[in-house]
Amino acid sequence: MIHIKTAEEITAMRQTCRLAAETLLMIASHVAHGITTQELNDICHDFIVSQGAIPSPLNYRGFPKSICTSVNQQVCHGIPGKRILKTGDIVNIDITTCLNGFHGDTSKTFHVGKPSPKGIKICQVAKACLDAGIRAVTPGARLGDIGNAIEQVALANHCSVVREYCGHGIGRDFHEEPAVLHYGRPHTGTPLQPGMIFTIEPMINLGKAEIRHLPDGWTVVTRDHSLSAQFEHTILVTENGFEVLTSLDDEYRN
Ligand code: MF3
Ligand code: CO
Ligand code: CO
Repeated sequence: MIHIKTAEEITAMRQTCRLAAETLLMIASHVAHGITTQELNDICHDFIVSQGAIPSPLNYRGFPKSICTSVNQQVCHGIPGKRILKTGDIVNIDITTCLNGFHGDTSKTFHVGKPSPKGIKICQVAKACLDAGIRAVTPGARLGDIGNAIEQVALANHCSVVREYCGHGIGRDFHEEPAVLHYGRPHTGTPLQPGMIFTIEPMINLGKAEIRHLPDGWTVVTRDHSLSAQFEHTILVTENGFEVLTSLDDEYRN
């Protein structure tokens, strides 16, 4: 069942989503050659806790850290640790906060130091995919329209969409219905309704779409070792279209 949020729940979701976005903005200035992913984790953890919230990933289904950090060919769910970032790397930082019982979820892929040409390309395409998915949230649209919009942008840029992971409803639970696929056919799937809140978070590969899992039980990597990038926002469906709850500026005003 898809939970349609009440006005009170939407107010709470705006607050937790703002905190998640502020955490992502705060950590951006720490992403540099020589920092470890564990240090990024600890800075985010302390910031989130200082704001009276809890990092949702910590102990979620046994996940051992407070954020996900996915480097280069890592697709998602990378575990922070001793790895030292170096110039030319790309790193996705995925932040989920739980504030007053409500979750907000957002991620971005950053360049470390001087960007590489392939890193620039995959980050640009992945961001364009997210934006196309968001702009497909219009009155009368269905979930398949979001997936199709994303897939079209990826294919036009000779990139591929990871199929095993998807966006998700979010609220009192980290992962709720519906599943928001990042591929699909137009005019298919669940109709969008004002008051729905879900994430859109396409994982886009420079090479083939196939993935594998590392022995740590969490980290997802591209099977062909190609670079992968991801951007994620939490979206409220409104009467007129959408509100991007995890955006701090007017980039997505509609
Ligand atoms: N934040 C991720 C998402 O976008 C989920 C991470 S689950 C974890 O849905 F356990 F790896 F943290
Ligand atoms: Co998510
Ligand atoms: Co996330």
